Amino acid sequence: MADQKQKPQAETGCPVKHIAFIMDGNGRWAKKRGMPREYGHKFGAEAFKKVMRRCSELGIEAATFYVFSTENWKRPQKEVDSIMKLLDEYLDECQRELEKNDVRFIFLGSKDPFPPSLRRKMEQIEERSRHSKKIVNMALNYGGRDEIVYAANRLLKCGKSKITEADFSSALYTSESPELDMIVRTGGDLRISNFLLWQAAYAELYFTDKLWPDFKEKDVDEAVENFKNRKRRFGGV
Ligand code: FPP
Repeated sequence: MADQKQKPQAETGCPVKHIAFIMDGNGRWAKKRGMPREYGHKFGAEAFKKVMRRCSELGIEAATFYVFSTENWKRPQKEVDSIMKLLDEYLDECQRELEKNDVRFIFLGSKDPFPPSLRRKMEQIEERSRHSKKIVNMALNYGGRDEIVYAANRLLKCGKSKITEADFSSALYTSESPELDMIVRTGGDLRISNFLLWQAAYAELYFTDKLWPDFKEKDVDEAVENFKNRKRRFGGV
């Protein structure tokens, strides 16, 4: 029995099947250290890797990360370039470690605005990882409204004249993931910022003042513990 107690939650079943993160606060984290914003993103990418691994260890079936929004292109070019560089480096690392991670990567959002080399890497990673079970959704050039319009257009193209909620869900970028259980936002702001608008319908919201680069494995555990105490009624009593 002692041995059973030590089993990671993955084997006992995690109540959170799908968790999403709004990774906010990189810029402020860097500023507090007298460093440029890019420095914060670098440490933000490290936090992303730790959190992603922890979600997988906990047996969470899908974890979605808001990496770059449709609006983030408006940031100063220097900052956009630094995020693209981090992304490029991460995709290389990801390709090297696909077997080790055993995670299915899905990129949410249109890949069109990315340079061809980045697009190719994303497509290769999606293709090569598609048989893995645990999902990591990386929202890149993603906007919730944009996704809803994208889904509506996909359904129109299929020639549907009447659609159901299930049809709509299956036309979204997140169609491969279970229902969203929880959205975690770091950085202290209390808003959704155009993230997973459709999927958020019954998601539990969890806000923390912690800045994203400071968000660690134990913070994921705390969010999951917090979820366990939520009474989910889905509109019922
Ligand atoms: C929000 O913080 C963060 C972003 C818009 C970028 C997220 C990017 C990363 C976590 C790093 C890249 C990750 C990978 C995997 C390549 P902010 O800049 O809005 O911070 P602020 O609110 O303090 O200004």
